[in-house]
Amino acid sequence: MNERIGEGPAARVLVASNRGPVSFRLEADGTLSARRGGGGLVSGISAAGLGSDAVWVCAAMSDADREAARRSPGGRLDRSDLLPGDGDGQGLPVRLLDIPPEVFTDGYNGIANSVLWFVHHMLYDTPVEPAFDAHFATQWENFRAYNEAFARALAEEAGPDAVVLVQDYHLVLVPGLLRALRPDLRVGHFSHTPWAPVDYFRMLPDAVAREVLLGILGADRAGFLTERWARAFAACCRDLLAAEVREAGAPDAAGDGRDLLEIVHEGRTTRIGVHGLGADAAFLTERSRRPDVDARMAVLREQVGDRRMLVRVDRTELSKNIVRGLLAYQHLLRTRPEWHGRVVHVAFAYPSRQDLASYRHYTAEVRRLADAVNAEFGTEDWTPLLLHVEDDFARSLAAYRMADVAVVNPIRDGMNLVAKEIPVVSDAGCALVLSREAGAYAELGEDALGINPYDVVGTAEAMHQALSMPPEERSGRSKRLAEAAAALPPARWFMDQLEALG
Ligand code: G6P
Repeated sequence: MNERIGEGPAARVLVASNRGPVSFRLEADGTLSARRGGGGLVSGISAAGLGSDAVWVCAAMSDADREAARRSPGGRLDRSDLLPGDGDGQGLPVRLLDIPPEVFTDGYNGIANSVLWFVHHMLYDTPVEPAFDAHFATQWENFRAYNEAFARALAEEAGPDAVVLVQDYHLVLVPGLLRALRPDLRVGHFSHTPWAPVDYFRMLPDAVAREVLLGILGADRAGFLTERWARAFAACCRDLLAAEVREAGAPDAAGDGRDLLEIVHEGRTTRIGVHGLGADAAFLTERSRRPDVDARMAVLREQVGDRRMLVRVDRTELSKNIVRGLLAYQHLLRTRPEWHGRVVHVAFAYPSRQDLASYRHYTAEVRRLADAVNAEFGTEDWTPLLLHVEDDFARSLAAYRMADVAVVNPIRDGMNLVAKEIPVVSDAGCALVLSREAGAYAELGEDALGINPYDVVGTAEAMHQALSMPPEERSGRSKRLAEAAAALPPARWFMDQLEALG
């Protein structure tokens, strides 16, 4: 049962996610260069002090990643490329799965990003989509195969009674598949997205909807970012599977890691927990005070002058609602001429999922609208909107520090860390315009200016209020936002889940 590939000892703690902590580039001379990724999981795992008795299983996402997997025995990467470990300088073991490209593409682009992501964020234009046709059926088979590849690798790598933390919508079938292979393991699943309301979720073909729910219920414990998403999942289990849903003692509003619910289906119980994820304040504070950030601040100051700065930073992602955000800014300038020449909207929209046509079209619409705003209002000495589409982390941090107002208006969002990072990093305090459909709203709602993300006029009004906020009020709110945002650091998020799985 436990046939192991590779060199390391059987793992005690395993993490599985589609995108791993490292990606590769094939250089002209045939060598591979590694690039380490950031994010909450990386810092959580580093802080947990896991070394050689842990392994992170993830997918090769490009040809260079596949090449790296092929050059490594059993797909286990050379640890010197990787994460800092528990002080032994060795790094965390990573196993990169070389899944056949057509299986990966159907699983990742076809199902995970074009179906499950769309369902949970309610992104479909329902008069014409989705249409679950024969092509979808093939993609679903490949999604299952992609999840099976993860389940097999985890079963191979795990030591007896190991704990496995499976991440996100890409890998919803893994808990159930893994339980069948290795009933001794303790398996957790965590959803980083919202969960769709029942009526939206049941758009999926019945058998597929059931397979998704049963996949997650294969876990001992399923985690969500907020109580709202946890309860939506439970409602789907109750209505589609006739599962029994029991209260397990309510956590506090921010989620304190205790169990919220228990779902009983065919004699098995899956515990449901809420774990909010906060900003990594220690890292951000240090990183945002480095010279590269200071240099970007000088450039931005030059461009913005002494005008107010309204900032947004997103992946160019359909759920982030960038188009309505720009329309709201346009409406603000149309209806409040007092802001002409006195405000600059700095909008960073970094490329994401450009393999999908809908994302390419969306990116084009964002650019078109930005040009239209500048054409309508720009003057010789005032560019009302600065749009940047090249990813630059130091420049994002510079804008975080300088923002007078931050706009975070997603249609729906599991949490939204930008809303939390900006107040933590802000130099002089920042007013936050925040969608009530972002998970972060549960924790930040009191000191943010809440908006309905579909209401362009309402969003423009909130922008006006935020820009007009007296400095003392702004800095008071910003301090409280920063405290709430930093209350659940990634390390705690990770450790709480490990502990909850025993
Ligand atoms: C969301 C998901 C993550 C994912 C990220 C970037 O935040 O919850 O799992 O890593 O988007 O998406 P990508 O498709 O580029 O990995």
